[in-house]
Amino acid sequence: MLSKKEILDVLKSKDIPKDLLEEAFKVRKFYSGYYVYLRALTEITNICRKSCFYCGIRKENASLKRYYLKFDLINKLFTNIKKLGYSSIALQGGEIFSEKHYFFLYKLIKLAKDKFNYEITISFGELPKDVLEKLYFLGAKRYLLRFEIISPKRYYLFHYKDKFHNYENRIKTLVLLKKIGYQVGTGNLIGLPFTFIKDLYKDILFIKNFKPDMVGIGPYIPQKNTPLFNYLTKGINIFSEKERFLLTLKLIAIFRILLKTSNIVASTALITLGTKFYPLEKVLNLAFKCGANVIMPIFTPSENKRLYSLYEDKYFSEHEKFYFAVKNSDFIPVLDRYGNPLSYYIRNQKSCKL
Ligand code: 5AD
Repeated sequence: MLSKKEILDVLKSKDIPKDLLEEAFKVRKFYSGYYVYLRALTEITNICRKSCFYCGIRKENASLKRYYLKFDLINKLFTNIKKLGYSSIALQGGEIFSEKHYFFLYKLIKLAKDKFNYEITISFGELPKDVLEKLYFLGAKRYLLRFEIISPKRYYLFHYKDKFHNYENRIKTLVLLKKIGYQVGTGNLIGLPFTFIKDLYKDILFIKNFKPDMVGIGPYIPQKNTPLFNYLTKGINIFSEKERFLLTLKLIAIFRILLKTSNIVASTALITLGTKFYPLEKVLNLAFKCGANVIMPIFTPSENKRLYSLYEDKYFSEHEKFYFAVKNSDFIPVLDRYGNPLSYYIRNQKSCKL
């Protein structure tokens, strides 16, 4: 177990400490071997009610063309994804509060479950309780919702304080998701300007205590059409690109050691930053050795994919490229198993169907 001092030392060190990497890799091999679970990700819509100061699809970004994928197109995507051998998908989109949107999501989950029997991860923000319950009931069993940054004071540096951006509601939703029965994935945004190592430490403590089934963390990457971008050009940036990349890897290793069995994703943002310094295989190998065991190739059609522009130069992680990159990084890509985390079975005392 890592002490506070050990964690702070790791965060402050220039590189990834060798003993941290060794310990994380040992834990990883014990619980997940060399397996990496692939989830086929589709970004349903870039329409969003929120206006987070770091995010490119924020409502106030008027220059962005908005899209909402059609049911028939998604059906075709699901068919292709199945043909490739996937058993697990992820659906993501901006936060929308309308009955029409909810009904569309119900229809999609029914399709994904009843026709394709996918294990389904969803990520559509802080939806109302009855909607989250219904989606779970229809077959979505995993939910991703990052808390972004756990200090409420810092949270409001990057979000308005209004009914659409409410720190308490975000945390309440995370607790609710767990209560409903979802495998909950959460995490933070690493290396935002105006934040410090001590903020990262607080984020780590929250995740340690919350014990999520999935950890989804990633480095902050500036996006031109956001208010936060202007601050960077004024030179207030605190963490460099390389630092944000290394911090994310260190956090992955810390969570692998602290949480042991949870799934940890090698996020697109991590890959986007990492490939500025190293080849894809090297980035993946590092992330997997630190303890990541999930990646999400993007299946959103290319013309829409460009519009899901959370940050600059987003890496377009295609299936084939990823599948072979995982192999070439000396790990084993897995499509045909759900890849549920052990923590989920332990909590529910279910028989194992990994
Ligand atoms: N850099 C990195 N990640 C971002 N996200 C949003 N904007 C950015 C950015 N500029 C992440 C947030 C959100 C997820 C969908 O995308 O953490 O939860």
